[in-house]
Amino acid sequence: MKWSELSDEEQAALERLRLRIGRAHLLQRLGLEGEDEARVRRRRTHFPHLENWLALPAVLHGLLTLLGLRGRGRGNTLRIELRRHEVALERLPAAFDGFRLLHLSDLHLDVGQPFVAALIERVRGVEHDACVLTGDFRFRTSGPHQPAMAALAALRPHLGPRVFAVLGNHDTVRMVPPMEALGIQVLMNESARLERGGEAVYIAGIDDAHYFRAHGLHKAADGIPAEACTVLLSHTPEPYRQAAHCGFALMLCGHTHGGQICLPGGIPILTDSDAPRALARGPWRYGRMRGYTSVGCGSSILDVRFNCRPEVTVHRLVRAGGGA
Ligand SMILES: [Fe+2]
Repeated sequence: MKWSELSDEEQAALERLRLRIGRAHLLQRLGLEGEDEARVRRRRTHFPHLENWLALPAVLHGLLTLLGLRGRGRGNTLRIELRRHEVALERLPAAFDGFRLLHLSDLHLDVGQPFVAALIERVRGVEHDACVLTGDFRFRTSGPHQPAMAALAALRPHLGPRVFAVLGNHDTVRMVPPMEALGIQVLMNESARLERGGEAVYIAGIDDAHYFRAHGLHKAADGIPAEACTVLLSHTPEPYRQAAHCGFALMLCGHTHGGQICLPGGIPILTDSDAPRALARGPWRYGRMRGYTSVGCGSSILDVRFNCRPEVTVHRLVRAGGGA
């Protein structure tokens, strides 16, 4: 959408965002999003990224219907699992020993009401101290974002008082103002300080590194004390090497969907990621940095899952080696 087509209210909100994230970042985002919208209008395919191959959903939909598997695959998207992950971190302050982060990724919320209801039911009552959302709120990579925002508003009361988020490759920068109006702090190459018992950890977040390549690790790390324990939120694990060398203690991400459609045993056919397959799901480590890639709670391209149950995750942070 062109700038002139935005409402006065939306222009004012994005102008405030420009002052925060910088002109180049906002222009890069809006420019690439505009190209993507134009590509969809012209029905052009774009092969480097699987999610942008326009014919793929129709081809897969037809194939699954022929095989009689579509109903089962859709049912699988509603069987959201609660996973618990304990991670030992260096430099974690004593006051944060046992701190719990509820992690949701790849929500793709506008897929339909049954999924939103299942997700709310899954997170309802799950005890946690803060919540992190690692991107992909919209089902498609373009088109209206308001239905996803309406579903996020329904989910929001169940996420607790402190919620941090980053955008994914399915998201528009235009989502930032409505998300922040819901009390979700969107980290656009920025960080936030969490305090507890007179001590602090930092949550840093980068914009999408997969399609928009608008991630700024250096900028996100700016102002964070060298000795601090910092959790990095990224939509995709792809910048894992750079993140590790920046000194982040833990990287939480998603994007891969764990394959979403997997062979028996949970073996992904595709991960749509340049990162090694070892980083496509669950816990991993690179150098001194710990990482976790969520298989996501939603689905995209097709609203089906096979051999890869969706997840929401509670990460429990503990002090490594007694926190010395
Ligand atoms: Fe996704």
